[in-house]
Parts: sequence; structure tokens; C-alpha cells
Amino acid sequence: MSRHDLIQPLFVIEGKSTKIPIDSMVGINRLTIDLLVEKCKQLSDDGISAVALFPAIEQDKKDHEGSEAINDNGLIQRAVRTLKREVPKLGLITDVALDPYTTHGHDGIVNQSGDIVNDRTVSMLVQQALSHADSGADIVAPSDMMDGRIGEIRNSLEKNGFINTKILSYSCKYCSSFYGPFRDAIGSSTNLGETDKSSYQMDIGNGDEAIREASLDISEGADILMVKPGMPYLDIVYRLKNNFSVPIFVYQVSGEFKMLNCLAGKDKAYLTKLIIESLVAFKRAGATAIISYFSESIVKILPSSN
Ligand code: PBG
Repeated sequence: MSRHDLIQPLFVIEGKSTKIPIDSMVGINRLTIDLLVEKCKQLSDDGISAVALFPAIEQDKKDHEGSEAINDNGLIQRAVRTLKREVPKLGLITDVALDPYTTHGHDGIVNQSGDIVNDRTVSMLVQQALSHADSGADIVAPSDMMDGRIGEIRNSLEKNGFINTKILSYSCKYCSSFYGPFRDAIGSSTNLGETDKSSYQMDIGNGDEAIREASLDISEGADILMVKPGMPYLDIVYRLKNNFSVPIFVYQVSGEFKMLNCLAGKDKAYLTKLIIESLVAFKRAGATAIISYFSESIVKILPSSN
């Protein structure tokens, strides 16, 4: 377990010199690009290897199709270009999914009967991934769970000369209740209303499906696999590790962050112990790297290398 194993998720907003706290996630703010740069310089100096960027899009830029997602001059695209220039050594992971951009809060395009239209969504995701790669993203991370998107994204990246852009596939993303605080952070929870994502995220009781999804994604060209959430799904991390030779990332999601914070209350020393135990458990199960909201607070007490 070392500093390089840690990835920090960060939320980006439009504007200047502004940070907006996320009520459901203590200590986590949404940052404008200038403050994001400062934060990333610090993280990189501390030894964090990469950040995962998520946009909180203004309501008036959202629409039914999530078309702002493919705007080459959109918030994420500008953030990536700026960070690549200002903090070149820090790895940048971008989220490929439509939920921050849609008025209904789903990861894909929804038809009149409320179903997600897979193929039209995939063509949007391909354009979104290309736009991120073109801005300088090192890793594009489809978190949407549509069928066939890894192959399509891989083909278009290759065709357009982005041969070094890696694909981190959220292969095993469960339809979990642990994402609640994140949905507040990007503002998709009110939009989602009473609907859920069970038609495209995985059934929490199904472990074998993880293996099937992962092998499909690898055959379509994924470089790295993601398991999400983390702690309740350590068996999945372990199974992937035993079945495949690609790197496995695990996402300690917003609900897990909140859970540990609640348990520790104001006791900082106790929180540190809880964080370390949870991170060590991910490594023990077989994770290569960990996306955690705790990365920034814990990085300095870890060794620089294994
Ligand atoms: C969806 C997405 C989600 C998270 C990251 N990207 C969850 C969802 O709404 O299904 C959750 C991360 C977290 O809870 O920390 N594209």
C-alpha cells in the first residue's frame, strides 16, 4: 500500500475562485477550474498518481440527450486542458456517462416509455470519450454500463489516433444504494426522482455476472477494470483478480465515505484507522489502485512507494 495506489475524485463547477461544499459529504467541495488546479498541484506534490474528474453541470445546460457532454469546450474538456498544462505529471481520468448532463439524471438517453436507448447512447458516449481524449485525458472511464460501448470507444480512439488513451471500464458497477451522496454532489438525485438505474447497473445479488461483464469488456479492449462500490464488493475484486490479468481499480464510493465519517464522528485518529483498514482490505482483495474521497487526507501518512 503506497501513495501511488491512491486516486482522488474531484467535482468541477463553472466560475472563478469558488468552492461549494457538498452537504452530504463533509470536507468535499465542488471547485472552479482555478481552484482545481491548486488542489491538483498539491495532490501531485503529495504523491497522488491520478484524479478522477466529475462535473456538476448547471441545470440550464442539461437536456434530454445530455448534449453538453460532447461540447469540446465544455467544463470537463476545459478542466482537462488546463490541468494537463499546469500539472502535467498528474494522471487525468474522465467519466464517460451522460448523467451529469441529462435532465432526467440517467446515464443514457431515455425514450418515451422510460427505457434507456442503448445504441443511441453509445454513439454519444463515443463522441464524449473522443472529446475527452482530444482535450488530453490519460484515461477515459465509461461508468454508464451500456452494452458494447467499450468496443465502440476503443475503435474510434484508435481510428482517431488516440492510441495511448487508456480505457478504464466500470465493468462491475452494481445498482447500489451507496451512491446517494454523489448524486447530490453532481445534482442528479432530484432529477432521477423515483426512477432507478436497475435496467443497466448490475444486480447486487449476482457475482457471476461480474465475470461475464469483465471478460466482455476485456475482449472489447478495456485496459483496466473497475469494481464499484468497494467494501461491500470485495468478493468481486478478488474474483476478478483471480480470473484476469488486467489491473483492477476499486471505487470507495460516496456512501462508504459517509459511513466511515459517521462512525468516527469527530474522532480524527479513529477515522484514520478506519480509512487505513478499508484501504488495506482493498489491496488484500487484489486492487491495483483505489479511488477514494479519503485519498487527499490520508496520502501523507503512507509511504511513497511499496
Ligand atoms: C454515474 C456515476 C455514479 C458514481 C460515479 N459515476 C453513480 C450513479 O449515479 O450511478 C458514484 C460515485 C460515488 O457514489 O461516489 N455515472
